[in-house]
Amino acid sequence: MNTKLFEPITFRNVTLKNRIVMSPMCMYSCYNQDGLVTPFHITHYESRAAGQAGLIILEASAVQPEGRISAEDLGIWSDEHIEGLKQVNQRIHAHGAKSGIQLAHAGRKADLEGEIFAPSAIPFNEDFKNAK
Ligand SMILES: Cc1cc2nc3c(=O)[nH]c(=O)nc-3n(C[C@H](O)[C@H](O)[C@H](O)COP(=O)(O)O)c2cc1C
Repeated sequence: MNTKLFEPITFRNVTLKNRIVMSPMCMYSCYNQDGLVTPFHITHYESRAAGQAGLIILEASAVQPEGRISAEDLGIWSDEHIEGLKQVNQRIHAHGAKSGIQLAHAGRKADLEGEIFAPSAIPFNEDFKNAK
């Protein structure tokens, strides 16, 4: 079969070594509920890179704590998050893969204690809260 799956591809100034792309998938693994990268994330993403994905997009990462889908979501709302994300990036790059990240705000679908914020104050459904 003639396939280009394993051939490099260039988008502007970024070249992926193949066309295998891992889509963002929430791992709900910030066990301390602080949005910080844990050893799980490092092992999880490095494993995918070692498996030769060309591009790995990190899971939905909250730009503010009230915008998390769950309290265990990855975060990128504070400088404290830089170090862990940098480590994940380095481990991905070490295998020749490129990395991306999905910036996220769950809005009405935030499932957290306290206030949540969304463009609409209408709850997503009866299981979700009213947003500010
Ligand atoms: C465990 C899990 C977590 C997911 N988390 C996210 C996420 O963080 N952001 C997102 O846009 N999609 C998320 N998705 C959706 C996937 O990225 C993907 O779009 C979906 O599985 C459909 O894949 P397909 O287009 O190959 O059928 C998640 C899917 C799974 C199975």
